[in-house]
Amino acid sequence: MKHDKILFIGAALSAVFGGAVAAQTPPNDEEILRAWLASPHADASSEAFRHWDKEAEIPGSCAVCHSTTGIVDYLAAPQSKAGVIDHPVPIGTTVECSACHNPGAQSLGEVAFPSGAVVAMTDGSAVCTVCHQGRTSGGDVRAAVEGVGDDTVSATISFVNIHYAAAAATNLGTAVGGGYEYDGQTYAGPFGHVPGLGTCITCHQPHETTVSLESCTACHQGATEFRAIRTTPLDILGDGRTAAGMGVVIDDLHARLEAAIKTYAVETGGGAIVYSDAAYPYFFNDLNANGEVEDGEAAFPNRYQSWTPRLLRAAYNFQFVGKDHGAFAHNPHYALQLMIDSITDLATVSSVDASGLQRP
Ligand code: HEC
Ligand code: HEC
Ligand code: HEC
Ligand code: HEC
Ligand code: HEC
Repeated sequence: MKHDKILFIGAALSAVFGGAVAAQTPPNDEEILRAWLASPHADASSEAFRHWDKEAEIPGSCAVCHSTTGIVDYLAAPQSKAGVIDHPVPIGTTVECSACHNPGAQSLGEVAFPSGAVVAMTDGSAVCTVCHQGRTSGGDVRAAVEGVGDDTVSATISFVNIHYAAAAATNLGTAVGGGYEYDGQTYAGPFGHVPGLGTCITCHQPHETTVSLESCTACHQGATEFRAIRTTPLDILGDGRTAAGMGVVIDDLHARLEAAIKTYAVETGGGAIVYSDAAYPYFFNDLNANGEVEDGEAAFPNRYQSWTPRLLRAAYNFQFVGKDHGAFAHNPHYALQLMIDSITDLATVSSVDASGLQRP
């Protein structure tokens, strides 16, 4: 470990425990430190912390979730816009101890979302929620397509990207409107799960950030992986596999939605489309119309620019679910509802097959 890191952590520890009690070291500070150091929050080499190296400062629209300085500043003042501060901050921090342990975080009793929803939260999960909520809502999709006919290609429409790891938006469901919710449907609210296992830090260890499978198997007996957990008896995919884990069902449906997006785009939308989960802004023209994304295609100048409103809604939900790798645990029914409704909507005007799908 580098010397300056030790100095920094020493300072952070006394900030956490207060000068007066610093001498009386709590029993598990070594463990906490080790857990944090091994976590993605401490990974100073990650793109999530290095993206701004060239500019040497992080703009206020990014700083809240990508630096300790940014979130401390955000929580120190009344928050006017979700996840945004009005000034840039220097590069060089990660999500350090004081990102979560500062006076603003301690007194944080509610969290604002991009949709404008404000949700009361009482435990330490509030601070997780500030950063893991995404940057957009279904309302941004509505605004982006306003006034354009459902199947009209419009150059004024660009892809709306939820951003990454928006676990809280999934977890709270329709209460914060993170997904694009179709008119006339109702959607799952917060996934309360069971008492004592319904908030971020009751499932995730706050310092390591991991979840232990043993904390699940007392009730979900025999589950050998998180993805295998399932309690819903409904035959969601209409294929008789009522024992397949929620993670498996969501992945299968996600693949089916991707296929539906491609079919609609060719038949009714603005032409062949492909998706790359690694290249911004994710949706590209399928230049050779082979249904696969090649390196040459996944380039910004070739980004998909012939969106229709119907295609954008489905693509937004596709990305919403795909970029939360824990969606199956955070709120499986909300994720399933968004994807089933997207496929069903595409099927109304194209040869996409939505038969057999059953909404949970
Ligand atoms: C509301 C919080 C929030 C805001 C605001 C935010 N981000 Fe992020 N961003 C995240 C989180 C959380 C991740 C981590 C995703 C993961 O890897 O688990 C992330 C990941 C990233 C990554 C890494 C993606 C990857 O594929 O590894 C980049 C790059 C990024 N953000 C850029 C930006 C930029 C640029 C801005 C400002 C325009 C911004 N972010 C604003 C929360 C935010
Ligand atoms: C990502 C947010 C986050 C980071 C980073 C973080 N903590 Fe914590 N920490 C928490 C939360 C949440 C709790 C639980 C508080 C609660 O139960 O309300 C906690 C609890 C603690 C406790 C109380 C003992 C316990 O395990 O409940 C100590 C001490 C502590 N943290 C020290 C640290 C130190 C030192 C660092 C840096 C090495 C650190 N934390 C980094 C979020 C964080
Ligand atoms: C200041 C913003 C911030 C806060 C607060 C925060 N996170 Fe994170 N979190 C991030 C960023 C940024 C990353 C991506 C780090 C990286 O790429 O190394 C991340 C990564 C993660 C990951 C790993 C995701 C992956 O793709 O592997 C988990 C899990 C996680 N955070 C959970 C939590 C929990 C639980 C809390 C609350 C105790 C929390 N986070 C608080 C910003 C934050
Ligand atoms: C019911 C338990 C549960 C709750 C509540 C929960 N999570 Fe998760 N989360 C999981 C599981 C299980 C995974 C998948 C972990 C894995 O595959 O290793 C996961 C995955 C994640 C990931 C992605 C990690 C990765 O590898 O990409 C992030 C980020 C995350 N959770 C953050 C949060 C935040 C923030 C909250 C609160 C809003 C939260 N989680 C609430 C159980 C939960
Ligand atoms: C105390 C018992 C208990 C524990 C421990 C527990 N669960 Fe659950 N879980 C339940 C019950 C009961 C349900 C059904 C809830 C409902 O239908 O509203 C459920 C439902 C779920 C679902 C939704 C499944 C579906 O088919 O809709 C997921 C995902 C899940 N749990 C994940 C987890 C994870 C991950 C853990 C460990 C971090 C965990 N559970 C620990 C009792 C538990």
